Amino acid sequence: MASTIFSTSSSLPTAVKGLDCNTYKPTLGNLRFIASPNRKSIAAPKPLFPVVKATSDVPVKTGLSDAECEAAVAAGNVPEAPPVPPTPLAPAGTPVVPSLPLSRRPRRTRRSPALRAAFQETSISPANFVYPLFIHEGEEDTPIGAMPGCYRLGWRHGLLEEVAKARDVGVNSIVLFPKVPDALKTPTGDEAYNEYGLVPRTIRMLKDKFPGLAIYTDVALDPYSSDGHDGIVREDGVIMNDETVHQLCKQAVAQARAGADVVSPSDMMDGRVGAIRGALDDAGFQHVLIMSYTAKYASSFYGPFREALDSNPHFGDKKTYQMNPANYREALVEVHEDESEGADILLVKPGLPYLDIIRQIRDNSPLPIAAYQVSGEYSMIKAGGILKMIDEEKVMMESLLCLRRAGADIILTYFALQAARCLCGEKR
Ligand code: PBG
Repeated sequence: MASTIFSTSSSLPTAVKGLDCNTYKPTLGNLRFIASPNRKSIAAPKPLFPVVKATSDVPVKTGLSDAECEAAVAAGNVPEAPPVPPTPLAPAGTPVVPSLPLSRRPRRTRRSPALRAAFQETSISPANFVYPLFIHEGEEDTPIGAMPGCYRLGWRHGLLEEVAKARDVGVNSIVLFPKVPDALKTPTGDEAYNEYGLVPRTIRMLKDKFPGLAIYTDVALDPYSSDGHDGIVREDGVIMNDETVHQLCKQAVAQARAGADVVSPSDMMDGRVGAIRGALDDAGFQHVLIMSYTAKYASSFYGPFREALDSNPHFGDKKTYQMNPANYREALVEVHEDESEGADILLVKPGLPYLDIIRQIRDNSPLPIAAYQVSGEYSMIKAGGILKMIDEEKVMMESLLCLRRAGADIILTYFALQAARCLCGEKR
């Protein structure tokens, strides 16, 4: 049962605005006595007390005083209660062995759903999710082949419906990823800071409809770059750092001006967090948070995302700016830079294959941590579920719980809506 692992009850109501899905509600089964089949063989000496049926309602009161009850028990008129349960039989052939002389038996705290729920160390709630949403200029929602269940949403129609559904189950944070028309892509990605561009326009509309929604944005040039890279590409193929940072600052300010709550540089240029902080502050956006993609690895798990946005690099790869998947200590170098440059949230990406990095950062920084369960992770779980090789819902919830256990405060996940529905007891 999902509730034993994820601290939710399937009996929770479906109206869940503001509901804390962490509250474990035990089912009535935990509270009832179980009748023993041989209870009739143990009879009370005299039926002074009404017979207590283990599963019945509370017995009728006798009207006896406390003193009379005590006297009756002292005189041997013990009220009936369910008998001591018999020792359960082991199957024939079970070896008879002396019990092991163990001073500690860790299985004790796992004996029942109530004990397991009491000692569960990690919890997960819809408030921990950030829902990544793909948007485009069209009116229709276009399915993304490699990400079953995900769509490029029409910014004025499908997007609004999806956000409303998410908010209904307590997911009040989204991050936007635009599919930009090819005609607007240039080598310097200037569309990224067009105040009338798709992202700023969408932010203004969302803030108008849902003022309480927390809107995260992606800061990087790849959706706007005719080269498909996160930065400006020099003729020899080098990704230019400081010139790219200049563009990113303009992009972040345009997003903040439109109403973004959190800008999230995912480009991995050096020094961009400090520069963006300065640009935001200069423009009067001191209150806007920066979620830095601190440890973003050059991962093959991003494949379905790049299909979704048609943002594959047109040549080469992203290894000169994204981190080498083989590296662990290097993440701390990035942490120290991002901390000193003023990042508010540190993000690790991908998620599940990089749990050690999440844990390392959790143990080395007091800042909030985000984990990005990326497109490839989502697609693998979906594919396994569709092919009936795994239980999709259970694997989904376990993967999210594990990201929390490793140290993530929030999780960017394409499962946000599905998982929140599951946590709130809504089965689809
Ligand atoms: C690009 C960006 C990427 C993702 C988020 N922002 C892809 C990339 O770096 O090529 C990947 C997200 C995912 O795979 O779900 N700035």
